[in-house]
Amino acid sequence: MIIKNVGVIGCGLMGSGIVQVAAQAGFSVLFVEANDELVRRGLGRLRETLEGLVAKGKLDATAKDAALARIAGTPRLEDLKACDLVVEAMTENQPLKNETFAKLDRIAPPHAILATNTSSCNVTAMAAATRRPGQVLGLHFFNPVPLMKLVEVARTILTDEGVVTTATEWVRALGKTPIQTKDSTAFVVNRLLVPYLLDAVRLYESGLASLEDIDTAMKLGCGYPMGPFTLLDLVGLDTTTYVAEVMFEEFREPRYAPPPLLKRMVMAGHLGRKAGRGFYTYTK
Ligand code: CAA
Repeated sequence: MIIKNVGVIGCGLMGSGIVQVAAQAGFSVLFVEANDELVRRGLGRLRETLEGLVAKGKLDATAKDAALARIAGTPRLEDLKACDLVVEAMTENQPLKNETFAKLDRIAPPHAILATNTSSCNVTAMAAATRRPGQVLGLHFFNPVPLMKLVEVARTILTDEGVVTTATEWVRALGKTPIQTKDSTAFVVNRLLVPYLLDAVRLYESGLASLEDIDTAMKLGCGYPMGPFTLLDLVGLDTTTYVAEVMFEEFREPRYAPPPLLKRMVMAGHLGRKAGRGFYTYTK
């Protein structure tokens, strides 16, 4: 099967990154946002990002124009009727995702592959909400999408082998490196990363060291590109808490339980970089 037209549902942090890399790799991309205003903002952000790359000399103006010409946005899910592949990248909400997959199944052409960028929701439940469970799988990108090379290809017990192959080839066509995993809460990366981030919060809560020193310790002591608190702020404290809660619910292991400080920071609206404040404060 040849993928030409790609749909992306959601043009937030992850969705816009997926739109960008797909358009730069030569695919026609149509993204869906909740309303006209969010479509306008999504298009504006993509233009700004690509223009920024041209200004830095990382992309030539012709390639930028060609990528932008391949991107369109719509507030209507029904407009995804000509897509060969749709990647859902909405917020982490299982009932909403199941409902969206059921709708999408009635809209997308019969051959289309339906993928989810979820990091913690149940892919099998989304597949079961459609009449094409063999064509549903997880394609989990990492934040920031244009820079992170990995995509986890997550198959359910219902996914057809040919669909896994096509989706894996598409990931390679984006210039990313795929790894294969099963549909199990949090897949590979978050299974290891989330307990580490939660432990960092517990360490800080215990008063062992300052935020800055814990970050410096992991950067310089382990060669990690970012310390855990800088990374928590990048991923979003709300997203991390949600993923941790789903993992705790699934595995019932204390190491996945979000620590009290993390929950309270989310309640306080200190969600990380996107909110201007998380463990650190950000000015534009
Ligand atoms: N498209 C293409 N290039 C872009 C870009 C974009 N949208 N945005 C920035 N760039 C370019 C910049 O122009 C910059 O280039 P120059 O250095 O030539 O100017 C380059 O990318 C790197 O930018 P930074 O200076 O910001 O880069 P850095 O060296 O500080 O690295 C980082 C940034 C890649 C994010 C690195 O710090 C890192 O790898 N951090 C860890 C991130 C991580 O772990 N992510 C996974 C999170 S977990 C997750 O996502 C899963 C989940 O489900 C929750």
